[in-house]
Amino acid sequence: MRVNGRHYRAVQWHADSGGVAWIDQRQLPHRFVEVVSQNPETVAVAIEQMQVRGAPTIGATAAYGLALAWSQDRARFFSHWLPRFRATRPTAVNLFHACDQLQQHAGDDPDVRTMIDCAQAYADAEVAANRAMGEHLAALLAVGERRILTHCNAGWLAAVDWGTATSGIYQLAAAGELPFVWVDETRPRMQGARLTAWELQQQGVDCALQADGAAAWMMAQGRVDAIVVGADRIAANGDVANKIGTYALALAAQAHNVPFYVAAPSSTFDAATSCGADIPIESRDDDELLHMDGVDADGVHREIQVAADVDANNPAFDVTPFHCVTAIVSEQGIWQQEQADET
Ligand code: MRU
Repeated sequence: MRVNGRHYRAVQWHADSGGVAWIDQRQLPHRFVEVVSQNPETVAVAIEQMQVRGAPTIGATAAYGLALAWSQDRARFFSHWLPRFRATRPTAVNLFHACDQLQQHAGDDPDVRTMIDCAQAYADAEVAANRAMGEHLAALLAVGERRILTHCNAGWLAAVDWGTATSGIYQLAAAGELPFVWVDETRPRMQGARLTAWELQQQGVDCALQADGAAAWMMAQGRVDAIVVGADRIAANGDVANKIGTYALALAAQAHNVPFYVAAPSSTFDAATSCGADIPIESRDDDELLHMDGVDADGVHREIQVAADVDANNPAFDVTPFHCVTAIVSEQGIWQQEQADET
């Protein structure tokens, strides 16, 4: 998508330097910083530190990082680099699909160019899937007053380009509709406040930020026409792992008869995991709840403590059972509750 008139992807191959380039998402919305690295370890750390995040972007970053590792340290590709990238984050299955794909290609002992092309093809396929999924989603969202609620960031930053949940919103806007988005701030890392609100603003889509706890109340008042979220992993039975707070949203949506849509490319589907209970849920540092960071009035970046000195509980994801989901939308089409009942 465009930032200040220039087209960017969240992560891409940097041909000039033979490295990987990404946007450091921790710095947004205050600073737009592109990082370029020729070091595969730096790429793995970028995933761990959530400089890049969001399931499809994590997968594409690992693909590029592995191509880089192949170009520099082929002897340790299988013994070191594949396990290194697989260990960066546990929940988004796209990471493992990307690693599997690069592993399979490496088995043929290709030249470096072929491995870079493989990573590029992986990322391009994600972008094409997002675009196609957005068309299906836009058709579903083109109802009522188009007041759409979203959680976390399932935008282009999270998905290389276009986004998953936002792809439908951007396509509605491009068709001349006027979607309005309620953006959940998404405690504790504030991906909604920092990233989704910024993205929507950059693309000229009207939105308002709200506390996570406001969502159910807005539904109760009849001020939400649909909810769209992304996913980190969808089990074979349709259970959806996504950012913590998604399950509560789905329950409230059911209570208030608001359609609850999940948008995800095929790379987020995990046929090998039968149900949500088997999805590994990442538990993150207490610090994310106890502290916050941002810029002060002088533009100086500061971290402050916002909580008492206590232990914290910080599951990063939750699982929404498929029976709470109105439809899952991918590039292949729409998977609805009634279809699942028939199978
Ligand atoms: O911890 P994060 O920021 O990587 O979590 C991201 C999410 O939960 C997104 O909703 C999900 O990856 C969908 S991305 C299109």
